[in-house]
Order: sequence, then structure tokens, then C-alpha cells
Amino acid sequence: MKFKVGDQAEKLRKLILNKRKNYENTQKYISNNTRVITVTSGKGGVGKTNFTINLALSFCKLGYKVAVLDADIGFANIDVMLDIMPKYTLIDVIYNNKDILDIIEDGPYGLKIIPGGSGLDDIMKLDIRQLNLLTNQLSKLEQYLDIIIIDTGAGVSNTVINFIRSSDDIILVITPEPTSLTDGYAMLKVINNYVKKNIVKIVVNRVKNQRESIEVFNKLNKASQKFLSLELDNIGYIYESKIVINSVKKQIPFILSEPKSNISRKIDSIAVDLINNKKVSTNGGLKGFLDNIKSLMN
Ligand SMILES: Nc1ncnc2c1ncn2[C@@H]1O[C@H](COP(=O)(O)OP(=O)(O)OP(=O)(O)O)[C@@H](O)[C@H]1O
Ligand SMILES: [Mg+2]
Repeated sequence: MKFKVGDQAEKLRKLILNKRKNYENTQKYISNNTRVITVTSGKGGVGKTNFTINLALSFCKLGYKVAVLDADIGFANIDVMLDIMPKYTLIDVIYNNKDILDIIEDGPYGLKIIPGGSGLDDIMKLDIRQLNLLTNQLSKLEQYLDIIIIDTGAGVSNTVINFIRSSDDIILVITPEPTSLTDGYAMLKVINNYVKKNIVKIVVNRVKNQRESIEVFNKLNKASQKFLSLELDNIGYIYESKIVINSVKKQIPFILSEPKSNISRKIDSIAVDLINNKKVSTNGGLKGFLDNIKSLMN
């Protein structure tokens, strides 16, 4: 399967270069650190994996070197959505002396996939030697990557909490469903208890229009402002669309099959905004991430 990087990518690149002039530090930040973004949710099935893959591909189109770390050991995960079958996973890095570079799979546009397998199921169970092995191997990726996006499973496990605590950006995906909102709020409470920095980026998925996304965001934000010391940053919304369902069926991310659709444009604009980094919440990039993980385990 071949994908063409068309005019749209060129336009986006221009857009980003223009925007960059206003953000002198962005370039430095990107080139010196591998930015670690963790995508999470309260309730499962709200669209994290779809969002993660398409966002990652949007970053790739902009010319960034990107990997997705598949930390979701459920079913509808990244390999299924991209129609790839990983031979090895982080389990092989931890237990079978595999090199991290040998387990990485190639996706479209140069996207790299790091299959987690159940290797990340509970990092608290790793002994210190295994943890060092894992973090040393992951630290090798610093030189190859600009961005790592971690797609977590739903809900709260020790691993998810540690990833959230250690990453540069936390993106919480919610939908207008009442249960997604209450579970999303429950997740915010956990984040509030554990995380030092206080910005959580919110994406509202499966909305009819912008108004609905704002209403949903405002509900969450109101509760958060009242009871938590977090700042919520509304970074965008994604339409409810058959395109998503079809792309899952066809195993081709919509940003590739329908690059000009409204939904793909939304993802592209979220990618551009994240690069321009309106609300910087750096935690030290991949190096900081791995140092944090290690210190949380000691
Ligand atoms: N914007 C959307 N429009 C329509 N359907 C959507 C949209 N986003 C997600 N879906 C549907 O929801 C399903 C679940 O999405 P996805 O697997 O990305 O969720 P998830 O949060 O990663 O789930 P899990 O918690 O199980 O990992 C998709 O297969 C698709 O059918
Ligand atoms: Mg998922």
C-alpha cells in the first residue's frame, strides 16, 4: 500500500512554518527533545486509538519523526487498525533480550509503531534489572524521534498513571455521552491527585458540531474548576462520522483515505496547534519521561 504526500501536506507545512515564526522556542523544543504525549480516557471505546493514529500521521505529514507506543493491550488496537502484525513486542525487549529497534514496525508516512504487547501491562511488576533494560532501550529512540504518542488502554492502571505523570502532554479524550463525561471527570480526579503539572488537554470526540463540543467541554471544565486544581485546555473536537467507522473496517486511517474530509482537517489543525504548543507543559521529553518512570518505581 502506498500513500502520497500531496499538496495538503505541503500546505500544512507552510502553515506550520509561518506559525512557527511566532514561536521561537518551538523548533528548539522539538529538535532537542522527543516530546512524549499520552492519550487517555476514563471510559473505554471513546476513540483514543483512532485519534492517536490519525494525529500521529498528521505529525508525519508535517515532517516530524513520530512513533506510536501501543500500550493498549485490548483488542481494537493499533496493529489491527493499520493492518500490521507485529512479530515482537516490548515483552521481547524485557524478557528475550531483543533490541528495541528490532521490534518496531513501519506504518504509513514513516510512522513507527512500538508494540507494547502485555509488556506494559503492569510495569510495577518489573524488577529493577528489567526496568533498566526497558528504559535504556526506550532511551535509544531519543535520537530518532521528534514525538512519541502513547495510546493507553481505558481507565486507571499503575502503568497508565505512571505514563500520565511522566509525559509532556496529557490528552484526555471524551465524548458527549454522559458516562464518558463522568468517567472522564473520574480520570481528571486521579490526574489531579497524582500529577504535579496541571494542564490537561481535552479532545471531544463524536460531536455533531462545534457547539456541542463546547457544551461538553464546559461541563467538564466547570466541575474541574470547582473541585480540582487542573487547567483544562480545549484543543479541539472531532465529528461523529461514518468515515471513522469505514476506516476502521478497511484498516486504513481516515487521514490517509479521506485527507480532505472535515474530520481529517480537524485532526490536522489539532496537530498544528500542538506543535505550536500554545500551552507548554514540558516534563523533559523522553529522557525526563524515562527518569520519572524510574523514580516512581523506586
Ligand atoms: N468520531 C467518530 N465517529 C464515529 N465513530 C467513531 C468515532 N470515533 C470512534 N468511533 C467508533 O468507536 C470505535 C472505538 O474507537 P477506538 O478503538 O479508537 O476507541 P478507544 O478509546 O481506543 O477504545 P479502547 O478503550 O477499547 O482502547 C471505533 O471503532 C469507531 O467505530
Ligand atoms: Mg484503543
